[in-house]
Amino acid sequence: MPCWHYYSAASPDHESALAIDASRIVFGPGVLDELGDHARSLGCRRVAVFTDRRLKALEHVARARKSLQNANIDAALFDAVHVEPTDASFLEAARFAKAARVDGFVSVGGGSVIDTAKAASLYSTYPADFLDYVNKPVGAAKPIPGALPPHVACPTTCGTGSETTGIAVCDVLALKAKTGIASARLRPSLALVDPTTTHTLPAEVIAASGFDVLCHALESYTARPFDRRSKPSSPTARPMSQGANPWSDLGSAEALRLTGKYLVRAVTDGRDLEAREKLAWAATLAGVAFGNAGVHLPHGMAYAVAGLVRDFRMPGYPQDEPMVPHGVSVVLNAPSVFRFTAEACPERHIEGAAMLGVDVRGATPTDAGEIVAAALIAAMRATRVPNGLGGVGYGAADVEALTKGTIVQQRLLSNAPRDVGEPELAALFSGAMSYW
Ligand SMILES: [Fe+2]
Repeated sequence: MPCWHYYSAASPDHESALAIDASRIVFGPGVLDELGDHARSLGCRRVAVFTDRRLKALEHVARARKSLQNANIDAALFDAVHVEPTDASFLEAARFAKAARVDGFVSVGGGSVIDTAKAASLYSTYPADFLDYVNKPVGAAKPIPGALPPHVACPTTCGTGSETTGIAVCDVLALKAKTGIASARLRPSLALVDPTTTHTLPAEVIAASGFDVLCHALESYTARPFDRRSKPSSPTARPMSQGANPWSDLGSAEALRLTGKYLVRAVTDGRDLEAREKLAWAATLAGVAFGNAGVHLPHGMAYAVAGLVRDFRMPGYPQDEPMVPHGVSVVLNAPSVFRFTAEACPERHIEGAAMLGVDVRGATPTDAGEIVAAALIAAMRATRVPNGLGGVGYGAADVEALTKGTIVQQRLLSNAPRDVGEPELAALFSGAMSYW
């Protein structure tokens, strides 16, 4: 049972309200073929369709374009989305959208594609210096001046949850910093989630995206509670990442139950379509949860893990450049992190493990961190995820750079249930080098 006494509404200086910005979602086998009708009902007549070159060759993009065509909607295709987008690739996509004179946006792909469509919509609608809208401290975090055109997001992986969030993540090349833009206005108008798009994904992609889902849920569930934040300066200044709250708990709890039951099955047996489709539903629920609560340390540390990669390449992914897939860069930190955060809210960690399917009878608060870590490590081993940061090429000599690359992620670090500074981060990275 979720633990409601996590919320104490402690003092008059603290937040006592939570906001629910629910996404519009249509979920079910075959709904990608409904795209045209949905886009038309949103008022679109000519849309920019974003995807990447690999996805362009798959049937999903063809289905999306055919559906748009059937609804008499013009489509301008942008297939040059950069996997792990950058400021340059965001702006290139925005220039395309501006030149194409579109009145709506469609994204067909994973998180990189959906995030790129969000940024293209923003910068083509309200042009500004790139860093104006970017999160502090890298950018100025200026509010988006008004509404954006309709955006229908059609995810084709079961992970990022970007279709339900107002977050777009990118590398700022000149600063070698991974950061993002966060605003409720970036949230897609409609998430069109067709779980059959997961059927043909390689096992490694299911593993990476599945662990991303699991971490979205577990981080949202263990985030600093919303009522321990200071009151906002005005009602409209309430952040999207509010911290754990009774609404996000609902999605997190069910996503944990589903990933606990189906993640290993979906990876190890490509014919287990039920497991893949359940994982797609878990991804949607976890996306709604973390879009409302916010994630914390495993994601905050993942930016540096992905950004400082030297020569690791993951099977099942494009091999042309070194890359640690997002979900892998997150979960490699997770056992080390939850061993550390359990002290702040052991009951939440034990509940999280129970939702993942662990028998927690007799567990005491001092066991909490190890119980969660053991569950994660068992799932990582069963799905052949690399063994900690050492498995993707990092060693003790990299801890300082990884720490420096993470300390700037204040939006995520401050959402953790325990305070962290550089010494704590260094210990967390050291603890994540190897697990078995
Ligand atoms: Fe993620």
